[in-house]
Amino acid sequence: MIEKELQLGFEEILKGNKEWVNFVENDETGRFQQLAKGQHPEVLWIGCADSRVPANEITGKKPGEVFVHRNIANMCIHSDMSMLSVLDYAVNVLQVKHIIVAGHYGCGGIAASLSGQQHGIIDNWLCHIKDVYRLHAKEVDAIEDPEARVNRMVELNVKEQVFNLTTTSIVQNAWKNGAKLAIHGMVINIGTGELTNLDYSFISNESLNKVFAFK
Ligand code: CO
Repeated sequence: MIEKELQLGFEEILKGNKEWVNFVENDETGRFQQLAKGQHPEVLWIGCADSRVPANEITGKKPGEVFVHRNIANMCIHSDMSMLSVLDYAVNVLQVKHIIVAGHYGCGGIAASLSGQQHGIIDNWLCHIKDVYRLHAKEVDAIEDPEARVNRMVELNVKEQVFNLTTTSIVQNAWKNGAKLAIHGMVINIGTGELTNLDYSFISNESLNKVFAFK
């Protein structure tokens, strides 16, 4: 019985791909042949791994238009080689113009970090979210409704991850070399699909404290 269920689920994936192949075959714009040769996305999206927040669908972008990195709670951690490698490639090779850090309300990673419960190996990852809480504990603790508390933390976490990106050597050097690169913080409402701009954007290191801004 289990095997049958697994098989059905897997077959659905293959069936879905057949539909996609059919769609690509019937596309008359030639864009897929073009895409097969290379990519020139203008946007790097750093989002949550949550299955409900697909970057392309939410932004109305087609294949080839968004370079994507996703992890639990859309974290930008200075020692995460995976994130740094994506960032370096996006900024220095693809020369994207926009980086969007996209959180989402009701994020399970954020909720878990505030729960005081153990969750296994992920707890070490969640420590980085707890660092964000530590910076904003007073404000977060003053919110009584648990859902509202998580959602405010989602916003604050996005802002802190945007800030983390601005202080990487990759972004600092890009700005120093005159790159036109904007970094934005946004939050998705899964229920409505809306992407809200948190108005926490950077286009240079001018507003950063001198400790963080490269000369
Ligand atoms: Co999430």
